[in-house]
Amino acid sequence: MSDFEGLTAIVTGGASGIGAATVAELQRRGARVAIIDRAASTDAETPMVRADLGSADEVQAAVEQIARDFGGIDVLINNAGIGAAGDVTANDDAEWHRVLDINVVGTARVTRAALPWLRRSSASSIVNTASVTATNGLPNRALYSASKGAVIAMTYAMAADHLADGIRVNAIAPGTADTPWVKRIVDSADDAEVAAENLRRRQPLGRLVSAAELAFAIANLASPLAGSTTGTVLTVDGGLSTLRVG
Ligand SMILES: NC(=O)c1ccc[n+]([C@@H]2O[C@H](COP(=O)([O-])OP(=O)(O)OC[C@H]3O[C@@H](n4cnc5c(N)ncnc54)[C@H](O)[C@@H]3O)[C@@H](O)[C@H]2O)c1
Repeated sequence: MSDFEGLTAIVTGGASGIGAATVAELQRRGARVAIIDRAASTDAETPMVRADLGSADEVQAAVEQIARDFGGIDVLINNAGIGAAGDVTANDDAEWHRVLDINVVGTARVTRAALPWLRRSSASSIVNTASVTATNGLPNRALYSASKGAVIAMTYAMAADHLADGIRVNAIAPGTADTPWVKRIVDSADDAEVAAENLRRRQPLGRLVSAAELAFAIANLASPLAGSTTGTVLTVDGGLSTLRVG
């Protein structure tokens, strides 16, 4: 497919996991892609600007630099995010503010900086990365779920606000995906093998979602071929949200 030929894209969190897979998928389909991430990327081919989504100044400078280098921005993938474990008592106020600041305000910061360029594009689109935790009560994810619920709510509001600008806004809601993030969670468990098996068993499909499968879904939402798709949350979770097969 070459549906992104001639288009430019920014992927936040593109140095790892779902973001890195999305960079590769968009490039495969013809896009010029730049990464914004606070961590270094092993992908030496893709232009990257190091920035922390917690800093409005860093985000603004990163988006401006990419827009100048590329001559515009057509597609924004708001994918970077951080996790938090525990019930509603488990995190102190500072941690609540930190996670909401990156996952929710960070998404707003990047979007705010990119909007002037997205408005000038005739094929502009934003995809936000939410999570199935937003709409399924999974244990020990109170803060993280709240942040991703806000991402979904913000996606609908953004889609309405920017309809007149011609900017489509959608979100993806992944189930548990096979990325370095989940590997970190599994490795920190008392018994990593049991933890991995529990995660797999929670998936009706019996395995984790792959980063490539999520990248494919993100690219399909962002594609100019999806011109009528806006204000949509696409769940890609191996059936976790809707299937009862056990
Ligand atoms: N892996 C899963 O099971 C899963 C499930 C549902 C949703 N998600 C969401 O998918 C997205 C990507 O997750 P992943 O599994 O690929 O994780 P990952 O940890 O492999 O990658 C996340 C990337 O985001 C970057 N990042 C984090 N905080 C940042 C900040 N403040 N500024 C700039 N960059 C920052 C990291 O450096 C990293 O490169 C996240 O928003 C996550 O909440 C993941």
